[in-house]
Amino acid sequence: MAHAVAIILAAGKGTRMKSSLPKAIHPICGKPMTRYVIDACIGAGIQDCVVVIGHGADQVREGLGDDVSYVVQEEQLGTGHACRLAVDAMGDRLCDVLVLPGDAPLITSDIIRQIVNERAKTGVDAVILTTILDDAGQYGRVVRSQDGSVLRIVEAKDATPDELAIREMNAAVYAFGLPVLREYLQRISKDNVQGEYYLTDVIGLMARDGLRVAAVVSKDPDVALGINNRVDLARLTQVVRRRINERLMLDGVTIIDPDTTYVDWDVQIGPDSVIYPGTVIEKSCRIGSGCFIGPSSRLVNVEIGDRVTILLSHVTDSTVGEGTRIGPYANIRPGCRIGRNVRIGDFVEAKNAIIGDEVSIAHLAYVGDAEIGDRTNIGAGTITCNYDGRQKHRTVIGQDAFVGSNVTLIAPVEVGNGAYVAAGSTITKNVPPDALGIGRARQENKEGWARRRRERGS
Ligand code: UD1
Ligand code: CA
Repeated sequence: MAHAVAIILAAGKGTRMKSSLPKAIHPICGKPMTRYVIDACIGAGIQDCVVVIGHGADQVREGLGDDVSYVVQEEQLGTGHACRLAVDAMGDRLCDVLVLPGDAPLITSDIIRQIVNERAKTGVDAVILTTILDDAGQYGRVVRSQDGSVLRIVEAKDATPDELAIREMNAAVYAFGLPVLREYLQRISKDNVQGEYYLTDVIGLMARDGLRVAAVVSKDPDVALGINNRVDLARLTQVVRRRINERLMLDGVTIIDPDTTYVDWDVQIGPDSVIYPGTVIEKSCRIGSGCFIGPSSRLVNVEIGDRVTILLSHVTDSTVGEGTRIGPYANIRPGCRIGRNVRIGDFVEAKNAIIGDEVSIAHLAYVGDAEIGDRTNIGAGTITCNYDGRQKHRTVIGQDAFVGSNVTLIAPVEVGNGAYVAAGSTITKNVPPDALGIGRARQENKEGWARRRRERGS
């Protein structure tokens, strides 16, 4: 592909988003909106991306990363002005320039390649990307002459009723030669309804001077759509979500209902895993093969081995070994390292806990700031009391231990390898290996007490 530099316009506040977060970094499936545009350029082989930022510049720069260069537009005087600042920063080199809006994240590397190649192949002075919509709404309209050549682009706000009826919209993606673009950017004015320097005016001026403008008309309208408000955000997020789910399905993952499965862009899932409806998988999760995830589960930044089941549960910032079963209704909070073939059942909460292989915590327990050795059983209702009101303390339970039901472990405390803890105990002292720890009042039976009470009639 011909050498090209991308200019991505992302300085606007995004007033219509009504947000304190700059529009460019509103996330879509875990990735900032404008980063999709950058990645599409990189995917098309464009090494050099210049992003024009302005509103919330520091935040945007941090959100978009440091593998692109930035130009700051202090005052947002329009897309033409933003583009001119980037062009000024590029010096005198001879290259092609691809200009893209930072708020149209569905653009693909394929379309970008097509646009750049169109200019290289035909030698026209500008290539624009358009698509046909039933109602082009607030988008700029592409005005063509009778012979079909592009005459100019008119913004919806400046358009006559006849122009508003045009269905071909301007996607705001353009390819130019740098010297020509520089020349024409100096000639645009802000003589329009919005009082802004419109980049779109460059096209009309070029056509008027007899320069050749070609259009790539995308059959897929999605690639051209922009985000101006939260309704657009939700609509385009749906498309991104569908693309992610389709990629996973083509890689061998079964997604029972793609419409209700929400997976971030950088999640990896192995083949033959099955994702049930209502499942949310966020932040770089790595999930093995042959897993069953969901329904109604949320996984955030977790690493999960093969053949793991997570049923109706939440798992966050943790790792889970192969063959382990979690849920229903478990809450695995940050900092857990759960081993292989573990069984974590209903209403179990774990936090910052290292849980060995083949451990069973089958029902109703809280395991926080704890370590549990391999093959140990934790009975129903067991609680690690990790907090004394001021500080957190650790509970360490060895391998092959057995903690009976309804045990309260007052940390810091240790239970040795192979030890037993009697049901109903409150454990305040360490239990040595292979010992039985009992910490409860001894049972006393009062013979005949109930009969005497009945006979007294009270
Ligand atoms: C723009 C096009 C319109 C096209 C539509 C496609 C113009 C005048 N209009 O309209 O023809 O149909 O995109 O989505 O170009 N920006 C800056 N600095 C500025 C102004 C804008 O960097 O001073 C950035 C914005 O952050 C945004 C992009 O440029 O990412 C487009 O600006 P926006 O105001 O959203 O233009 P539209 O009204 O959508
Ligand atoms: Ca826009």
